[in-house]
Amino acid sequence: MRIEILLGPPGAGKGTMAAYLSRCAGLSVFVTGDVLRQAISSGSELGQRVKVDVEQGRLVDDETILNLVKKFLTEHSEGVIFDGFPRTLRQAEDLRAILDPADELRVIHLDTSAETVVARLSARRMCPQCGRIYNLRFKPPLTDELCDECNTRLIQRKDDTEVVIKERYRIYLKETAPLVGYFADVLMKVDGNAPADVVFRELKEELCPG
Ligand code: AP5
Repeated sequence: MRIEILLGPPGAGKGTMAAYLSRCAGLSVFVTGDVLRQAISSGSELGQRVKVDVEQGRLVDDETILNLVKKFLTEHSEGVIFDGFPRTLRQAEDLRAILDPADELRVIHLDTSAETVVARLSARRMCPQCGRIYNLRFKPPLTDELCDECNTRLIQRKDDTEVVIKERYRIYLKETAPLVGYFADVLMKVDGNAPADVVFRELKEELCPG
């Protein structure tokens, strides 16, 4: 099984790159944040349990996340691109424990500054219908705040306010940034501050050769 992990702070471009790479690498993407947000919108038991943490930018408990990931892996044995997982040492250790020595694991570190993150997230918009990501500064929709794909009015995520962005970044530094060292043996570092087409070209050469 092939496992590609996109690791980086909020706004590093994990979701943007995962969507591009999924097409060229032919792998399914597991977007932890999208799964949690969909659960919240549907009002399910999971959604009710995680709502406050997600909307205030705190991490959801490891047990909940690991159960979702394990289920997804059993259904996608060809391989997965992870966007938003793992985010704690416990999640990283549990993932490694599940994998077989023959599995291919790579961690792509989108190394991105705090200034870039704030500039990007305050201008991010997403389509609540198809999930497509836009940016009013860097990747605007063709028609004012409407999705190019399905014409739905774009929304701003509840956790993209200045206060919550700062909290998410603080938690990233404390809980997730240490994984760069933990995965040093399988790490590929990329400059996440570069424009999206530049980042994608570099990743495509490695992940989707030919
Ligand atoms: P999640 O949805 O994963 O949020 P995040 O990690 O904070 O990441 P983002 O989605 O904000 O950013 P991104 O890196 O995907 O950037 P994007 O491509 O959108 O998690 C949300 C919450 O769920 C967490 O806070 C937590 O509560 C919970 N959760 C999730 N996973 C968990 C886990 N494993 N354990 C516990 N809790 C968990 O890009 C951002 C913007 O920039 C976009 O507008 C885009 O168009 C633009 N952009 C992207 N790349 C570029 C570029 N290179 N140049 C210019 N603009 C760019």
